[in-house]
Amino acid sequence: MKRIGVLTGGGDAAGMNPALRAVVRRARGLGAEVIGIQRGWEGLAEGDFRKLTSRDVSGIIDRGGTILRTFRYPEFATDEGTAPVGKTIEKMKLDGLVIIGGDGSFRGGNKLTRSFGLPVVGVPATIDNDIPGTDISIGFDTALNTAIEAVDKVRDTATSHGRIFVIEVMGRSYGLLAAQTAIATGAEEVLLPEVPYDIDDLCKRISSGYRRGKQHAIIIVAEGAGKAPHVAFEIKERLKRGVRMVVLGHTQRGGSPSGYDRILASRLGHRATDLLFAGEHGVMVGIVGNKIKTSSLDKKSKLSGKAVLSDLRLMEDLI
Ligand code: F6P
Repeated sequence: MKRIGVLTGGGDAAGMNPALRAVVRRARGLGAEVIGIQRGWEGLAEGDFRKLTSRDVSGIIDRGGTILRTFRYPEFATDEGTAPVGKTIEKMKLDGLVIIGGDGSFRGGNKLTRSFGLPVVGVPATIDNDIPGTDISIGFDTALNTAIEAVDKVRDTATSHGRIFVIEVMGRSYGLLAAQTAIATGAEEVLLPEVPYDIDDLCKRISSGYRRGKQHAIIIVAEGAGKAPHVAFEIKERLKRGVRMVVLGHTQRGGSPSGYDRILASRLGHRATDLLFAGEHGVMVGIVGNKIKTSSLDKKSKLSGKAVLSDLRLMEDLI
């Protein structure tokens, strides 16, 4: 391998920078030139790339976001969007590419291999932790800690006023970030996309909590479970108590990566580069049972909801 590329795709996640640093430094150590593709798939289509040296990735291990930047680029799924990408790939003369991103980016990576024969290795990075083939993705731990800090703060004011708070947590259509936020903050309730809920039952449980002497009710709502404003409205209508709503939203995507994410990103970025050099591609690296494992990018297994359900049971047992 003389020249490899690296890009960050999809929604940014804290830890993308340490992953990028690991890829660049490992590849430079193995004697290759590294090309950083900027603005993800859009930059690939528009030929926005630059050479990256080890110095270019100095001082980024603690930085949130991605210095390469990223972009949602659904056009890549279409023929019109694919053609310009082919031109850039030809221009860059790459022997391989490391993609740091989520499932959508890995589908894009597959397409690069199919359409242009480019060897690709994926590094899973998304706050949603919804990628089969890894127990945890880069960015999840930081996002979880951000959510925990925010909910802890909200609980103080909820207790002071005896209020009900509906707090929406990101995660797209997967409930793990919400379920683990609920466990770690001792929330009273969590609404998840994986489990149907009934507002009347929810209100009964909230009222029973107040009767038992609870001073507040914290209800975590996963983004994929339905609209938090609707939930807040329905509770207020039924219980006639003060209900407030907080949407944590993109605050969970930003911020300095946690120690866990920095180490995870360093390990996975390093291994992904080694795999590319060893000629093993069309795979993503992941952590399974605390070991680095690879899985095919092409034959992806389905995401199981098991982890979410077992976390939900844990949370309910500890309320
Ligand atoms: O995939 C990461 C994520 O933050 C999801 O949790 C959320 O649904 C989505 O991205 C938001 O995307 P955007 O930043 O494009 O609005």
